[in-house]
Amino acid sequence: MTTSTAPGKIYLFGEHAVVYGEPAVPCAIDLRARVHATQRDDDRVRLSASDLSLDGFTIEYDGDQNARPDIDVPENLVSAAVGYVNGAIHQARDLAGGSDTGLELTIESDIPLGAGLGSSAAVTVAAIDAVARELGATPDAETVAERAFQVEAAVQDGEASRADTFCSAMGGAVRVEGTDCRRLGEPDLPFVLGYDGGAGDTGQLVAGVRQLRETYDFADTTIGVIGDLVERGERALDDGDLDEIGRLMNFNHGLLVALGVSSRTLDDMVWAARDAGALGAKLTGAGGRGCIVALAEAADVATALEHTPVCERAFEASLTPDGLQQE
Ligand code: PMV
Repeated sequence: MTTSTAPGKIYLFGEHAVVYGEPAVPCAIDLRARVHATQRDDDRVRLSASDLSLDGFTIEYDGDQNARPDIDVPENLVSAAVGYVNGAIHQARDLAGGSDTGLELTIESDIPLGAGLGSSAAVTVAAIDAVARELGATPDAETVAERAFQVEAAVQDGEASRADTFCSAMGGAVRVEGTDCRRLGEPDLPFVLGYDGGAGDTGQLVAGVRQLRETYDFADTTIGVIGDLVERGERALDDGDLDEIGRLMNFNHGLLVALGVSSRTLDDMVWAARDAGALGAKLTGAGGRGCIVALAEAADVATALEHTPVCERAFEASLTPDGLQQE
C-alpha cells in the first residue's frame, strides 16, 4: 500500500481575480487529505471515502472514465468525487507508463467539501501521487501539481486556476499568476476559520463575476484593484507585517462583496471575527457559502464565531510548510 497526503488551503488574497490573470496568494493550512492506494489483482477500481461528507461512501466500478456507480448519495457529490478521482487515476497511470492495473483507493480528509478550503485539490494531488507511486513512478511535487491542475480544469470545464493545486502540492504561501507559480515562504500566520456548513457553487460564482465584468467596466477595474492589493499583500508578507496583512484582507473582502460573491452568512462571520479582535477577515475561495478566514491568535475570535448563529463550526488552523508528502 502507498499513502500520500496533501494540505488544504485558504486564500489570503486574490481569489476570483486570479481567473483573469491577476496574481493570488493562497496559503496551505494544517488540514489534510490522505489517500491510500493498493494494487489489485484484477482491473477494477474500488474507492472508499470515510469522511468526505459522503458517509460510508464505497463504490466499485470498472475504472472507466464515464463510470457512474449506483449508490444512494447526492448525484452531484458522487459525480464530482468520481470525476476528480478518475482524473487522478488517469494522470497517475500515465505517469507510470500507461499501466491499467486495478486499484483499491481509500480517501480520508479533514477538509470540509466545497467550503473554499481546496478539498478537491488536496484529494487530487494526494491521489495522483499515491497511485503513481503504487504503480512504480516517483513524480516530483511540481509534476503532480501540474497533473492535478489538468484534472481540476477538466472537471471544472476549464474554469480553474493553478492556485489550489500548486499550493496543495508545494505547501507554505505561494503566488500564482497565470502559469507562473512560485513558493513565497512559510510565514507564521495564525488563522481562525468559520464554516457556515454550506458549499458554494464555484462554477456559478465564477460565471457571475464573468458576467459582471462583461457588463461593467468598473467590475473589471475592481478585478485589477484586487491584483494591486495582492502585490501590496506580498510586500506585507515579506515584512511579516500582520497588521497590514489584516487590513488588506479586509479590503479584499470588500472588493469580493462588490463582485457579488459573498453572502449574509459569510458577512456575519467576517464581522463577528473583526468585532472579536481579528486583524482581518475575509471569505476564502469561491464564496457563496462555506468558510471565512480570520487572521487572529486570539481564542476570543473562535469563541465569537462559535456564538454566531450562522456559524456551524469554528476552528483554528495555521499555515503549514508541508505540501505533498508520503507516509
Ligand atoms: O472555492 P475554491 O477553493 O474552489 O476556490 C475557487 C477560487 C476561484 O478563484 C474562484 C476559482 C479558481 O479556480 O481560482
